[in-house]
Amino acid sequence: MERITTVAAMRAFGRVSRAAGRRIGLVPTMGALHRGHLSLIERARSECDAVVVSIYVNPLQFGPKEDFRAYPRDLERDQGLLRSSGTDALFVPEHEEIHVPGHRTRVEVQGMQDVLCGRSRPGHFRGVATVVAKLFAIVRPDIACFGEKDAQQLRIIRRMALDLHDETQIISCPTVREEDGLALSSRNTYLTPEERRAAPVLYRALRSAAASGRAGETDAARLVSLARDTIAREPLARLDYVEAVDGETLEPVATAGAGTLLAVAAWFGRARLIDNISF
Ligand code: PAF
Repeated sequence: MERITTVAAMRAFGRVSRAAGRRIGLVPTMGALHRGHLSLIERARSECDAVVVSIYVNPLQFGPKEDFRAYPRDLERDQGLLRSSGTDALFVPEHEEIHVPGHRTRVEVQGMQDVLCGRSRPGHFRGVATVVAKLFAIVRPDIACFGEKDAQQLRIIRRMALDLHDETQIISCPTVREEDGLALSSRNTYLTPEERRAAPVLYRALRSAAASGRAGETDAARLVSLARDTIAREPLARLDYVEAVDGETLEPVATAGAGTLLAVAAWFGRARLIDNISF
């Protein structure tokens, strides 16, 4: 595995790969890798000849009161996992490589960035779209893999690629879960043992609402309140939102059906966890 720290060297890797006719798959991450990330790498591996994983904790996507400093970082461990995952290149740039001195440019996906998680994390998706656009420009991947757990991020990046005429194919990969249903997330490491035991309530709530949906309940407000009631019974959960939205545009829906996305965010202690289910 090549370890690349500069934009120039990353571009050179891309140039050489493309000249050799190799398809490039990118898996953008912020490190603290878990089985969810490894499943994205496996998917990229299955479709490409050269797999690039980026590890970059992007300050632009953290609010002033968020966990940028505390975000888990363990490059040694991550590198070990990547070496045995078949990754060809690890891109670990310094801040000034990605956000060059004096940088002024931001990428906004208007509307979609302000709903759901965007309400309590203003500026977050602008930071995500900006860094992902930069990574696409540097690596010029054929495909890029993102987890369905970050449903809003995935849709925003899809829309951004479409709008910017970026030819990168955006691949969505299923959420990887613990046995009790908790979606894997680097932020799960913040959970105390009690909070960890409580956290699967999110997926339980989504599943029971989705089961009602599949059994014929189409009133989105009723499905949302079903999920909300389940979460309200868990004292360690502090709900941020549960919403039923269109699975592509993220606009609220009154009638749920095929293509509806039910999304949730809640705090367990200092961990803000998200999850979703599609109908
Ligand atoms: O999902 C993440 O880890 C990040 O938001 C991403 C896509 C790597 C951009 O920093």
